[in-house]
Amino acid sequence: MIFPDDFVWGAATASYQIEGAVKEDGRGQSIWDTFSHAPGNVFDGDTGDVACDHYHRYRDDVALMRSLGLQAYRFSIAWPRIQPDGRGPVNPPGLDFYSRLVDALLEAGITPYVTLYHWDLPQALEDTGGWTNRDVAYAFADYAEAVYGKLGDRVDHWTTLNEPWVAAFLGYGNGVHAPGHRRAGDAMRSAHHLLLGHGLAARRLRDLGAKSLMLVVNSAPVLTPAQVNDPSAVPSEADAEAVDRIHALLTRQFLDPALHGSYPAEVLDAASRNGGLDHIHPGDLEIINAPIDQIGINYYNPCVVSAGPGTPADAAWPGSEDILFGTADAPTTAMGWPIVPDGLSRLLVRLSQDYPQVGLMVTENGAAFDDVVENGHVHDHDRVAYLEGHLREVHRAISAGADLRGYLVWSLLDNFEWAEGYRRRFGIVHVDYGTLERVPKDSALWYRDVIGRNGL
Ligand code: FCB
Repeated sequence: MIFPDDFVWGAATASYQIEGAVKEDGRGQSIWDTFSHAPGNVFDGDTGDVACDHYHRYRDDVALMRSLGLQAYRFSIAWPRIQPDGRGPVNPPGLDFYSRLVDALLEAGITPYVTLYHWDLPQALEDTGGWTNRDVAYAFADYAEAVYGKLGDRVDHWTTLNEPWVAAFLGYGNGVHAPGHRRAGDAMRSAHHLLLGHGLAARRLRDLGAKSLMLVVNSAPVLTPAQVNDPSAVPSEADAEAVDRIHALLTRQFLDPALHGSYPAEVLDAASRNGGLDHIHPGDLEIINAPIDQIGINYYNPCVVSAGPGTPADAAWPGSEDILFGTADAPTTAMGWPIVPDGLSRLLVRLSQDYPQVGLMVTENGAAFDDVVENGHVHDHDRVAYLEGHLREVHRAISAGADLRGYLVWSLLDNFEWAEGYRRRFGIVHVDYGTLERVPKDSALWYRDVIGRNGL
């Protein structure tokens, strides 16, 4: 199974999950510092204070990437390192860190993929309402420009946002993530302002000369329980409506405005019943519909639903109170997430048909398992099987005509898994949180061979 010649192989991380050094070189506070330090939010009280200490060990981490043959590395910039208060003058040492990282990557022959926002909003902006405040979208574009000004001469691939659905609906809806608001209306509003920030930043970067722009979404095929194991199963009319509505809320809410300049009716309906539509100003959709080159897809598992009666309303899903969320009949990872590899090909084929004007990239895919270190090795056969199964589906989607340009495994390193803290290990490289020692797991060595052969 050989992949196209120019197919890009790599791995992804995010700033707050790996960097540590939260008080160094003028970094301001982020909403994840605040949230993780407040009791009860993160498993075991874990915080990103030290994380993988990547801020100090980035050179070794780049050397590790090189030894694995990675062609691309997707990382994010911590906004509070660049503008400690989210606005105003930039903090040169913060920009310098990423500049050194980019140089080290380029020297190692690894293409940097920069994400501007992977959830670590400056706390000072949260103090003004965070993403519920429209001004934050404009501040984001200024921040994007500042980063581009430093790195734009060496970085071609720019992503505005990572997973705006999660940022809005877990951050402002059900409160599982920072900043921990629990209001459906706040979530709908934040989702729109995130999109506005995307559009403003994408236009700004394009004007400045950015070569490739991407929006990364957490997407999933939405399936009825029967469709999980039988793609040809025909849902009832009521189930089909539930499936379409959840697809609209999860995926089309972001990709339709970004790529078609319009919101799905289901999203407008959910917003009008949760806080109203006043936050959508005339002209916003034109701004959001900025030309971009690729969409990044983060895929872990399908979304399984059927017509209600629903579970008690979860503020992460305004507009779906009458829908029943189920789970796929499949083995699960340590996160309890069902393993359904062909969900990925079904998703990629559909998105390539719905949004033919852009290319696709799998910007995250991977799994947490309860790894054990034995004599300095981690024999993570379950992760190898997960990755191999999903890569077969990536190949299948390409054969079916999807314009798929690359695959980035989540994650390079075990890291701070948000509300789950350090107990969930997604890395292909093991991190000992006592010594911070890195040990490539069997999956890393397997992945190196996949890259070397450009296939399975
Ligand atoms: C995604 C996030 C990423 C990581 C994985 C497991 O939602 O983008 O940071 O936590 O899930």
